[in-house]
Amino acid sequence: MTYRIAVLPGDGIGAEIVPQAIRVLEAIGAKYGLSFTFTEGLIGGIAIDKTGQPLPAETLELCRNSDAILLGAIGGPKWDDLPTHLRPEVGALLPLRKELGLYANIRPCHTYDALADASTLKKEVLAGTDMVIIRELTGGLYFGSKGREDIDGVQKAWDTMLYSTPEIERIVRLAFETAGHRRKKLCSVDKANVLESSRLWRETVNRLAPEYPDIAVTHMYVDNAAMQFIRNPGQFDVVVTENTFGDILSDQASMLSASLGMLASASLGGHVGLYEPAHGSAPDIAGQKKANPIATILSAAMMLEYSFNRVAEARAIEAAIEAVLAKGFRTGDIMEAGKTLVNTEEMTDRVLEELA
Ligand code: NAD
Ligand code: IPM
Ligand code: MN
Repeated sequence: MTYRIAVLPGDGIGAEIVPQAIRVLEAIGAKYGLSFTFTEGLIGGIAIDKTGQPLPAETLELCRNSDAILLGAIGGPKWDDLPTHLRPEVGALLPLRKELGLYANIRPCHTYDALADASTLKKEVLAGTDMVIIRELTGGLYFGSKGREDIDGVQKAWDTMLYSTPEIERIVRLAFETAGHRRKKLCSVDKANVLESSRLWRETVNRLAPEYPDIAVTHMYVDNAAMQFIRNPGQFDVVVTENTFGDILSDQASMLSASLGMLASASLGGHVGLYEPAHGSAPDIAGQKKANPIATILSAAMMLEYSFNRVAEARAIEAAIEAVLAKGFRTGDIMEAGKTLVNTEEMTDRVLEELA
């Protein structure tokens, strides 16, 4: 079986971490008898520089004709001052997600025993943390109508948080189903004390809940959730929330695994899944071989599981990463005293050794 993978390294550390995930996929292929074709496409700032477009039609076509997409990260200071619709984020990543119907962003987050001391949070607080954030990805503020107006020298700008019941229903159903395969707890995060879209969100969750009688549902306001995530993260199993809240809460949750460089993601819902680390292009460390490749490697593991149903292969990658961390190998973001500092490629070398 040959899987066709569209590879979109993008900008900054994207070009450093994506090749690492490919190395791991190739090793998995050799070990388990799978084959992959990797076809590169341009996206983001590099695509603007080379073609004038953040998301060239060719790239979108490549993605549509692939079995899965592996994305690094896009954006950076060089392109920050372009008009909003031409920026890598708004001009490439959002339309890619929308065009491919990727409404569900899955971000699993658990504490690694080996990293308990690498986190900025206390060991006792982190113990037993194992949650998955299900973030709505093609609605809300990111896609509602937006605009600017200048009235007599006064600038006004707005973004609209808009959700329809079908948009809420499909993501909430996925969250209920996910909870059904886990510890059967679903926490829906909203701001229903203020926002109308959140009231609709909460009503929809409550309307669907009786269809999933074995799932214990709770609701939490997003401000409280931000606090509970670091007060007692072990209380969460599946968290479902709208686009912007999920964006912010998942970066925060990454610290439960000690670093943003550990947080993988899968964007699902259409014919082709997109797999990308939750972090960005990290301009502050780009080009220095410092980036942690684990979030991207774990995203490739999610690809094997969710797009190709290769669960044993995904578990093998996760186990290899656990073993490497247990042996004390660390990129700078998860470094602590007494451990061995490695660069991006060396971290991958160690993972490949474990897989061999
Ligand atoms: P960022 O996620 O790029 O970086 C935040 C911090 O985390 C930085 O200090 C960075 O060095 C660190 N970090 C991130 N990934 C790391 C890794 N793998 N290893 C070690 N350290 C890591 O967020 P930012 O600085 O706010 O944004 C930079 C650019 O990335 C912006 O243009 C932003 O829009 C873009 N961005 C893109 C994506 C994406 O492509 N999916 C996601 C988030 C941000
Ligand atoms: C992410 C990123 C993107 C988002 C940006 C770059 C548009 O932060 O994937 O989390 O907000 O969705
Ligand atoms: Mn984000």
